[in-house]
Amino acid sequence: MENGLAEFIKHALQDRDAIRSELVAGLMLPQAVTSPKYLYDALGSKLFEAICELPEYYPTRTEAEIFRTHGAEIASVAGLGSTLIDLGAGNCAKAASLFSLLRPQQYVPIDISAEFLHDAVTSLQQQFFHIDMLALGMDFSSALQLPATVRRHNRLFFYPGSSIGNFNPDEALAFIKRLRGACDIEGGLLIGVDLVKDSATLDAAYDDALGVTASFNLNLLLHLNRLLGADFNLRQWRHRGFFNAEASRVEMHLEATDDTVVRWHGGQRRFVQGERLHTENSYKYTVPGFTELLGQAGFGQVRVWRDPRQWFMVCHARAV
Ligand code: AVI
Repeated sequence: MENGLAEFIKHALQDRDAIRSELVAGLMLPQAVTSPKYLYDALGSKLFEAICELPEYYPTRTEAEIFRTHGAEIASVAGLGSTLIDLGAGNCAKAASLFSLLRPQQYVPIDISAEFLHDAVTSLQQQFFHIDMLALGMDFSSALQLPATVRRHNRLFFYPGSSIGNFNPDEALAFIKRLRGACDIEGGLLIGVDLVKDSATLDAAYDDALGVTASFNLNLLLHLNRLLGADFNLRQWRHRGFFNAEASRVEMHLEATDDTVVRWHGGQRRFVQGERLHTENSYKYTVPGFTELLGQAGFGQVRVWRDPRQWFMVCHARAV
């Protein structure tokens, strides 16, 4: 942008009544469930940042190591001068660290946390005044509507951090198909994906000794109390995080430590001791399994870079 100011567009988010109905429907299921997006209120986002610093939580630093080691080759495959669309951009740091390699013409960070994104992109635009920046505050998980000012040419979708793992495989396929629908034939996808590994490593990564992941999970109840006017008592719940090898996913649950009745405006539910609220899945892939998913979604020419332990992959695929 010539004037050094990033453009910013905020889309309307789901209204409060819709959020409440979605949450109550999940809480009333025989196996109570909530969408992982409710883990990320302001405190939840900070706790997730803390998780990324934990010795047991390897994905963030392993992905960074892959970009450090293979960045030049990744950039030569992904191509220069793209429209770099950063999905779940947060503080934009991951994409910004690749600017010198990828040299995008336009940078389009998207995040549901609009205010946070606004601040991040404003300071980034001062630093990289030659890159056209358009920040979008919106929830891209169920629909992807890009404004006409996002260049269609040479789009590169950037989806790091293995957030794809928080969709179930059907949702992941539908999501990647939507990305394919939003790019022309020369477009591509640069994505970080966590790989299947031994259970002990995965169990520790999602149930750390310091209890940060437990706090991240329990904080969901504080968020539900605010959203629903509910009375979850955090002291009656405990964190569970473990690898379910059969389903190839880490599961997070909150487990009632006593029989308890939770009330909210207009409803209530009884939980017996040991009953669980399922709060997140984090799917772990194999290289062939994820390559097949990409193929089904209309992406091909897949290139994969892994760390020496083969715990994580960064993958580039082209729209075909
Ligand atoms: C954001 N997402 C990729 C994280 C994951 O590993 O599934 C969220 C997380 N949940 C517990 N720890 C981290």
